[in-house]
Amino acid sequence: MRMHKKGRLEERIAACSDIVKVADLSDKNMKNAALTPEYVPFNDIFGNNNPIYLEIGCGKGKFVCEMAKKLPDINFVACEKISNVLIEALERAKTEEIKNVYFLNCAAEVLGKYFTQGSVERIYLNFSNPLPKEGYKKQRLTHPRFLSIYGGLLKKGGLILQKTDDEDFYKFSVESYKEAGFEVLSACENYLLGEKEDVETEHERRFKDMGKRIFRVVVRV
Ligand SMILES: C[S@@+](CC[C@H](N)C(=O)[O-])C[C@H]1O[C@@H](n2cnc3c(N)ncnc32)[C@H](O)[C@@H]1O
Repeated sequence: MRMHKKGRLEERIAACSDIVKVADLSDKNMKNAALTPEYVPFNDIFGNNNPIYLEIGCGKGKFVCEMAKKLPDINFVACEKISNVLIEALERAKTEEIKNVYFLNCAAEVLGKYFTQGSVERIYLNFSNPLPKEGYKKQRLTHPRFLSIYGGLLKKGGLILQKTDDEDFYKFSVESYKEAGFEVLSACENYLLGEKEDVETEHERRFKDMGKRIFRVVVRV
């Protein structure tokens, strides 16, 4: 019997249930949902107390899977709201038997319910949607409302590392960081992957192939 696309997706996600937490989306009010703690026992899941690096908007998971392999003493958590996209990351992590990666199928808006305060060392924002229209400004992942969420997740002195191809979004983000009182450690307007602790993302490859410049900002909270 032919399975509906959605049914098949649910089945595929269920097969990865040991490496993913799927948000309960029954509460459509994100503010309410964010307020109800459902802390994920990351130390138990990973079996150690290694530092946690969180990627928000991981897409198909190339970055987080390659980083996890490169840095085996770091626990990577990746958040992605679109399950259709996330499934590729889940299945990749399974196939490659990566043990230090865990996924959250949720919106960034509710991340605070899954982490205890100050439990994250780094947040990676890779090629987040720039959403240039004024009306969508509040959805940008570096809007002040998200920075206050990140401030709660990150430990004191924790870092946010952002890459984007979009100059206006880059400028908007730098301003937001400064307004939030975060210290801008570096702001590079033509980033050519040179950092030891970095790998190319799917979108980065695509934008570079198009001859686009990559902007990279690192801030300390
Ligand atoms: C342009 S893609 C970049 C994917 C990947 N980071 C890369 O560099 O190739 C942005 C991703 O962020 C996800 N995203 C956007 N807003 C989000 C939010 N509020 N919470 C979680 N994920 C979000 C989108 O679903 C999409 O998969």
